[in-house]
Amino acid sequence: MLELRAITRAYELGGERAGVFGVSLEVPRGCLAVLAGPSGSGKTTLLQLAGLLDSPDEGEVRLDGQSVSSLPEPARCGLRLRRLGFVFQAFNLVPVLTALENAMLPLQLQGLAEGEARRRAGAALDRVGLSDRLHHRPGQLSGGQQQRAAIARALAPDPLLVLADEPTASLDHAHGGPLMDLMAELAAERGTTFLVASHDPAVIARAHRVFRLADGRLVEAP
Ligand SMILES: Nc1ncnc2c1ncn2[C@@H]1O[C@H](COP(=O)(O)OP(=O)(O)OP(=O)(O)O)[C@@H](O)[C@H]1O
Ligand SMILES: [Mg+2]
Repeated sequence: MLELRAITRAYELGGERAGVFGVSLEVPRGCLAVLAGPSGSGKTTLLQLAGLLDSPDEGEVRLDGQSVSSLPEPARCGLRLRRLGFVFQAFNLVPVLTALENAMLPLQLQGLAEGEARRRAGAALDRVGLSDRLHHRPGQLSGGQQQRAAIARALAPDPLLVLADEPTASLDHAHGGPLMDLMAELAAERGTTFLVASHDPAVIARAHRVFRLADGRLVEAP
């Protein structure tokens, strides 16, 4: 489903060279994969490459059998909107919008009519257990509920691949297990593929595949 082939993305800053170097990995459809590794090991850099938010210096990103890393930006943008979902560490929910309106956003950006966007966003929020919080704004939700609202927003367009960067980092450890259980259920139900960057042991323990990075290189892969 997702394939990274010999990816290098180097940052040169103040004479120091950092980034990711020669990383190859494969995540099959419906897999819940975790990118693990210490701070600065390259997890976010790889997620941004897999999410078509950045381009590699060398190597190739393939999605569903198609080489996507060298597509022109409008095509990459279209793929991000229709095929990819993103969950960020701070959840990045829009504070003035309700949970329902947040989950409707990507659908409306895709051009769906308001009624259809509302129906699908409502179904996604229902699926993550927030049907009684549709009209709450992020500030009126607990941390765990905000996390689930962010997952519903990522999931509402029914993406092929969801990328999550440290989705439990702003919550306490009790949230890692239930979050992974929910993502594993979604992977089994819909065939959605997940790639999660995390150093939370509860998250790593529940992964179907763990890829470990150190200093921008893959040091352990299944
Ligand atoms: N835009 C940039 N310019 C220069 N260096 C960068 C840039 N982005 C990342 N780096 C460097 O690349 C390396 C990998 O960073 P990255 O953010 O991918 O790490 P990470 O594994 O996500 O870390 P953390 O667990 O702290 O989030 C680090 O050494 C970082 O300083
Ligand atoms: Mg990071």
